[in-house]
Amino acid sequence: MSGDRCKASAMTQVEEPAAIKQPPCATATPPVGREEEPELGHTHKAAGRQAAMALLSCPSRHPSIYHLIFFSVYLLCASILPILDGLELGGDGLYREILRDETVLRLKELGKISDGEGYLERTFLSPASIRATDVIINWMKDAGLTTWVDQMGNIHGRFEPANSTKDALLIGSHMDTVIDAGMYDGSLGIICAISALKVLKVTGKLQRLTRPVEVIAFSDEEGVRFQTTFLGSAAVAGTLPESILQVSDKSGTTVQDVLKLNSFEATSASLGQVKYSPESVGSYVEVHIEQGPVLEALRYPLGVVKGIAGQTRLKVIVDGSQGHAGTVPMKLRRDPMVAAAELVLTLERLCKEPNKFLTYDEECGCFTEESLAGLVCTVGELLTWPSASNVIPGQVNFTADIRAMDDKVREAIVTSFSRLVLQKCDDRLVDCAVQHKHAAAATPCDAELTAKLERATRSTLSMMKTTAAPGGVMPVPVPVLMSGAGHDAMAMARLTKVGMLFVRCRGGVSHSPEESVMDDDVWAAGLALVNFVDHNAVAES
Ligand code: GLV
Ligand code: MN
Ligand code: MN
Repeated sequence: MSGDRCKASAMTQVEEPAAIKQPPCATATPPVGREEEPELGHTHKAAGRQAAMALLSCPSRHPSIYHLIFFSVYLLCASILPILDGLELGGDGLYREILRDETVLRLKELGKISDGEGYLERTFLSPASIRATDVIINWMKDAGLTTWVDQMGNIHGRFEPANSTKDALLIGSHMDTVIDAGMYDGSLGIICAISALKVLKVTGKLQRLTRPVEVIAFSDEEGVRFQTTFLGSAAVAGTLPESILQVSDKSGTTVQDVLKLNSFEATSASLGQVKYSPESVGSYVEVHIEQGPVLEALRYPLGVVKGIAGQTRLKVIVDGSQGHAGTVPMKLRRDPMVAAAELVLTLERLCKEPNKFLTYDEECGCFTEESLAGLVCTVGELLTWPSASNVIPGQVNFTADIRAMDDKVREAIVTSFSRLVLQKCDDRLVDCAVQHKHAAAATPCDAELTAKLERATRSTLSMMKTTAAPGGVMPVPVPVLMSGAGHDAMAMARLTKVGMLFVRCRGGVSHSPEESVMDDDVWAAGLALVNFVDHNAVAES
């Protein structure tokens, strides 16, 4: 959690309007870092305003005939534009009101539905999640979808056209958050999808769908509460084991308890009902905040995803001898805190310099540089008992999150780390156990689906006249990224082919209230989804 909780107010901060390039003699300086933002649409208005501002801000200059003509045209346009704005919906194919303005408002609304005060936290089936469910259902209904909540708390909104094929296009992301979260992670994918379908509704294209299209807001992806991710999407994919019902959170409450508390059946049969058959699904698509800095560095609003890193989550339990901080001599201590500290550093060294620890590959006896790329390890939670300044702790627990694009690298790190834990705990005379909480293999996205998303992105950006690079030339091709973050698409890949679209974020920051996506990029993502569905699931009129 960030030290200063007041920072959470950034969640509701209204984004500054994109800076309009100043006319030659205007003295105002555009806000730092804004002047080169891509201009999405409305360039005609900006140009007119620039001409007008050039005149108005240069009183000492005599306006030239060209200025006067431009200014008159601007005044004429300005009087017509409000009318055009009203017609924008369905008129210009950009659907700004739904895909940008309403989507951003909804993101802010969902971002305020929290279990925490002054910060965003919404974990699996928490009271805030239940409140958010009602809100999301209403938005789905507004988009013309038939809604229901399944036995794992996932929210579904579906349009089933008459005479369609059976294999549905699923579009989704997760409604749960980390603790002290930003408002885009997960929510962006859900709300963009609902908005895209609302556009299809208002343009009459929902009726012309050639296959069912369904938005799913998954109940758990982050795994914050039960340390096991994808409770929602793995249930839909049919890979959630029945034993999940007995997994407990820190307070001892099990998944089954939480489900029952919320009037779900919580039996193996009810879990089974959530599962989709592979024949009933054609593909799964997810829009998600990038959570990294690549798109921003490339000055590109959207990118497609090639694959998602595999991940393992461990819990390490270190038991020592609880004692008095003032009386037990240093040499006689069995201190689990210092042992845990050493283990945390051990994990860091393993993942920073894996070459020094790993020996694999039958041929070269090593891992290649390529296979080691993307290896990252994190200790994000450390708990100590009894947690008092004058007590040598009796027990320390910590989590280890290990990710890599190459599953063999990840597995080798897990094995090496587990071995080192036992060795170092022996040296320090403490007792250690390593529990495996979660593992997911690296997931490639479907090449054909990715190519379709790439095409939808390209046509979206040219429709919006995005100047994504200095000089206004759109770089080709659309960036293709690997994802270090986990996504519901990983779980859904066990059921069907998956594709993902990433959306640029500020500074690559995520899992933080500082998460920020430009409103125009939200718009671009929604329009790319509209184009994708339009080209792949709507019949010609
Ligand atoms: C999910 O956001 C994860 O990658 O931890
Ligand atoms: Mn996340
Ligand atoms: Mn996410």
